[in-house]
Amino acid sequence: MTKCLISGAETETFLSFGKMPIANGFLEAKDYPNEHFFELKVGYCPESKMVQLTELVDEKKMFHENYAFFSSTSRRMAEHFRRFAESVRETFFASSEDPFVVEIGSNDGIMLQNFANAGIRHLGIEPSANVAQAARDKGIETISEFFDQKVAERIVAQKGQADAFLAANVMCHIPYLHSVMAGIKTLLKPKGVLVFEDPYLGDIIEKTSYDQIYDEHAFYFSVTSIEYLVSRHDLEVIDVIRQPVHGGSMRYVIGHKGARPVSENVGRQRAFEDQLGLHDPETYRKFAKNVAQSKNDLLELLNGLKRQGQRVGAYGATSKSTTVTNYCGIGPDLVEFISDTTPIKQGKFSPGTHIPVVPHEVFAKNPPSHTLLFAWNHAEEILAKEQQYRENGGKFLLYVPKVHTL
Ligand code: SAH
Ligand code: TMP
Repeated sequence: MTKCLISGAETETFLSFGKMPIANGFLEAKDYPNEHFFELKVGYCPESKMVQLTELVDEKKMFHENYAFFSSTSRRMAEHFRRFAESVRETFFASSEDPFVVEIGSNDGIMLQNFANAGIRHLGIEPSANVAQAARDKGIETISEFFDQKVAERIVAQKGQADAFLAANVMCHIPYLHSVMAGIKTLLKPKGVLVFEDPYLGDIIEKTSYDQIYDEHAFYFSVTSIEYLVSRHDLEVIDVIRQPVHGGSMRYVIGHKGARPVSENVGRQRAFEDQLGLHDPETYRKFAKNVAQSKNDLLELLNGLKRQGQRVGAYGATSKSTTVTNYCGIGPDLVEFISDTTPIKQGKFSPGTHIPVVPHEVFAKNPPSHTLLFAWNHAEEILAKEQQYRENGGKFLLYVPKVHTL
């Protein structure tokens, strides 16, 4: 049994994927002997309702000067963050004379560039030094640190309190969330807001998108579990807004308790979660069964294609794909290569099962008959880009919400 990182109560482990490597640990063949593996297991806490990993990987093993994920590889995400920034400015900056915005996990500046370009005071906090440097190169003020309560206190002393504290796809990465929330409590002005978004547990359960589960994602949030967490820091969820990105995300707006009106969305979503069974351990047992079924279906499809002598490649060397390839046992015998536009991943091999990662040109020059879409969360953008491939008879294989061919 493992204790909940939020409540301290015992968690119930409901799913184990076995040995897993670092999801973003794309590597060279010479580094195979040193590859780090851990036990990927997920538990549910009946007290805080928080779904979480029960064994964690040291953050310095995941976030460092060779971090492989550059946010700006997706045009659609750049547009998403432009609108995110615009809504923050319109909704929360109107009454502030010299607004100040802080973002953690700011990566290569995909969100903060929208504030920097408008001349708004900003600060990015990004521990992965290479992506932080990419942001600085664009003129975005960024410090390379892991955010916690101490860092927050230093920022307040040096720069004062913030009008908005933003976080996208990073809050769920941080195991020490009590320190983070205490820091945010200190950092926010009396009317300041925390706005963050992460993949939504409701979507993961409904779509069996088990590939959201990997080392970096310590938590799988719901409105209910976030309310449990923030209420311990005298903060309050004032709005929740579903987002279509990353296979279904939730944006949470949080203020100091009583400082702002609470939207009806919050109660509505809480009721939806109850209905969906997110507070019933049986839901998680069912999810585990669906995950095993998804694995069987995908392997049946890939093995069938192999028997027919078809060529199968993959698209998007995502961190999510590390869970799929290692859990299902998909190596270069079933998938020839993974096409990816990120230079730091190209020429390397996928973590654990060692499928070669190649630039998109390799895919375009000699396309396989079938392409497993690991970046299914970017399907719209990718299918539009690869219209010609499909017109020429190429097929995409997807496994969310169920294994199917496009
Ligand atoms: N916000 C971007 C990047 C998400 S990836 C986007 O949505 O595309 C998560 C990022 O969080 C990584 O760049 C990682 O280095 C950073 N990160 C991890 N732990 C952190 C912490 N404690 N404080 C600040 N950033 C952190
Ligand atoms: P993500 O799902 O974590 O956002 O990662 C997407 C990965 O897919 C990233 O490595 C970039 C890659 N990618 C492509 O290779 N081509 C594309 O058109 C898109 C949108 C992403």
